[in-house]
Amino acid sequence: MTHFLTDEQIMVAKMVRDFAKERVEPWIPRMEAGEFPRPLLKEMAELGLMGMTIPEKYGGSEMDFTSYILAIHELSKISPTLGVILSVHTSVGTNPILYFGTEEQKQYYVPKLASGEWLGAFALTEPGAGSDAGSLRTRAEKKDGAYILNGSKIFITNGGEADTYIVFATTNPKLGTKGISAFIVEKETPGFIIGKDEKKMGLHGSRTTEIILENVKISESQLLGKEGDGFKVAMANLDSGRIGISAQALGIAEGATDAAIEYAKQRVQFGKPISQQQGIGFKIADMSTRVEAAKLLVYRAAMLRSNNLPCGKEASMAKLYASETAMHVATEAIQVFGGYGYTEEYPVERYFRDAKITQIYEGTSEIQRIVISRQLLH
Ligand code: CAA
Repeated sequence: MTHFLTDEQIMVAKMVRDFAKERVEPWIPRMEAGEFPRPLLKEMAELGLMGMTIPEKYGGSEMDFTSYILAIHELSKISPTLGVILSVHTSVGTNPILYFGTEEQKQYYVPKLASGEWLGAFALTEPGAGSDAGSLRTRAEKKDGAYILNGSKIFITNGGEADTYIVFATTNPKLGTKGISAFIVEKETPGFIIGKDEKKMGLHGSRTTEIILENVKISESQLLGKEGDGFKVAMANLDSGRIGISAQALGIAEGATDAAIEYAKQRVQFGKPISQQQGIGFKIADMSTRVEAAKLLVYRAAMLRSNNLPCGKEASMAKLYASETAMHVATEAIQVFGGYGYTEEYPVERYFRDAKITQIYEGTSEIQRIVISRQLLH
């Protein structure tokens, strides 16, 4: 892969790899115990990682999209938890404001998010509207130059930790997806209630909460894009968001494969390292081949996005293949470790738990297949 990267991209990847090894790895037990890694986010902000793709004029580091994907990939090899926090903050927490906001909104919100002073989140999913995001029921009613929001959101990554939320609500339920609008809602707004924390199988350091909106009054100036454009705002940002999650899945797959290779070389059974048993050697060959195939799809999508070329289908292909690979490879890595792989002593059981969600959030594998097949067959 390095053959196809610029010197700057290679430098970014190395910086993040070193940071992940030196600073993030020691934090894993704390994150596994459920602690949100606030101090690490501060360090990431100092390295310019919280606004990588944001133009300098809005306080970002103005790097290309591929560098940002390299950062998520490298972070996720060590900590998929930090990978998702960064991906959600950037792709769907900050970018919607950059791409759809007014100049005033961009100047007020984006520098705070790009500098890492504020954290971003995205509130689309509802208890009754997951894969069918267009069926959401949260209402936004316009009254005297303000919007009043009522409803509830679920599974919100960075919930309770984020300072701003891109909230999707319908201004006209009769219009279906065309009645949906996007709003920027600040955490401290009265009636904006952080509900229960989900107890999850994996990603223990990443907070996921319910959000309840009870007569949340926001000014008209917090409407993002035009009234009725909300579904497009969500979908367009999910295109690039899905490349971020594909990079997270790739990091998990590569991290699990590296751990299996290291273990296989030192674990001796039947008088020789298990790496020299063909059953294990072939398994590792297959794992590594799938990781490399996923890498090509992830970076192809990232490079298209870097060059502002259409990438919806390619993003879905990358997300589908990388997340299925993460789950498969993490399962195989546990098999290489045998009984030890099932214990918390080694990282592979954590990769396995973290891998599962990559097949679900930002569109399940089934939804990715819908997006891909619709583009191929329409
Ligand atoms: N970009 C811009 N516009 C788009 C678009 C895109 N990628 N995809 C669709 N649209 C537009 C369509 O053009 C259409 O508008 P027109 O009628 O004007 O042409 C409108 O949106 C409606 O599109 P569809 O008819 O295709 O909508 P649908 O109801 O059939 O749904 C779907 C399509 C792909 C299944 C969509 O519902 C979907 O992506 N579902 C999955 C939801 C999802 O990914 N949720 C993630 C939650 S966030 C998260 O997980 C973050 C986290 O925690 C990590």
